[in-house]
Amino acid sequence: MFQNIRKAVIPAAGFGTRMLPFTKAVPKELIPLVDKPVIQYVVEEAIASGLDDILLILSSGKEAVLEHFQAAPELETRLKETGKNELLAQISSIGKGAKISCVYQEELDGLGGAVKLAENFCNGEYFAVLLGDTILDSNGDVPVTGQLIEAYKQVGTPVVAVEAVPAANISSYGNVGGIWKSENIMQVDAMVEKPSPAEALSDLAVASRYVLSPEIFPLLHRTKRGKGNEIQLTDAIRELIPSGSLHACKINGRRYDLGSKAGFIAANIEFALRDAELSSSISKKLAASCPEIAAAISNMKE
Ligand code: G1P
Repeated sequence: MFQNIRKAVIPAAGFGTRMLPFTKAVPKELIPLVDKPVIQYVVEEAIASGLDDILLILSSGKEAVLEHFQAAPELETRLKETGKNELLAQISSIGKGAKISCVYQEELDGLGGAVKLAENFCNGEYFAVLLGDTILDSNGDVPVTGQLIEAYKQVGTPVVAVEAVPAANISSYGNVGGIWKSENIMQVDAMVEKPSPAEALSDLAVASRYVLSPEIFPLLHRTKRGKGNEIQLTDAIRELIPSGSLHACKINGRRYDLGSKAGFIAANIEFALRDAELSSSISKKLAASCPEIAAAISNMKE
């Protein structure tokens, strides 16, 4: 019998060093994709996956991440007075559909250390983890966290999201190996954090989303610092393998890591060009200064 999953944990405490100096004062989770901060897409994915109780794991200086989901009465009054009703509806609906709270990670000791802080919040229930700097676009299909919840309902164990990556990139990710039980579900028999290409178990990278059981908390308490001198979530999850209690789900979705400069710029161009109005005004603006890009955009539209 499976549990109804309602809780989402969103780790968002890291420094965002790959996006400095921008992230010196602004949290990396507030980096925009066109006109919405990345964390809003992540919260929307959680809500669209049926999760209505969300915990943000923040660190000091990142209060603005929670503020983004709180009411802004003065702004809303001004939008109402100036007749900007569409914008008002957009602003007042941010984060609606879930209770959103936060805890602060005092020592930035890694993803495992962050998830450990959700123990009281999870209160013995299964929960989802969504990394706060990464968007997974399922192109109108079931959201990726929803796909993991469906997989959990089939297998009854924790499930990690995976996607195939080029061999040269596997050392940036958690990596799993195992036996395929169906087209997209694997029973995991080995898991390692950021292996060298020679140590890699497969081409499957852990892709920023997890469904976990409360069993993970005692394991996290025992987990020592690992790769990068951080408490790795991967190291605690690996302890589920001997009892056959871990599956991976190959996701249907594209991952956008907004925490890297190239990822941020490429994702913004791609999402802006999907918007007919925006793409035509971008082409016009670039036509004079950058004819090659303008030509490429107009080819894409044909
Ligand atoms: C974290 C996890 C890693 C995972 C990656 C992307 O690494 O530790 O297992 O593959 O996120 O989801 P980070 O990118 O924080 O170094």
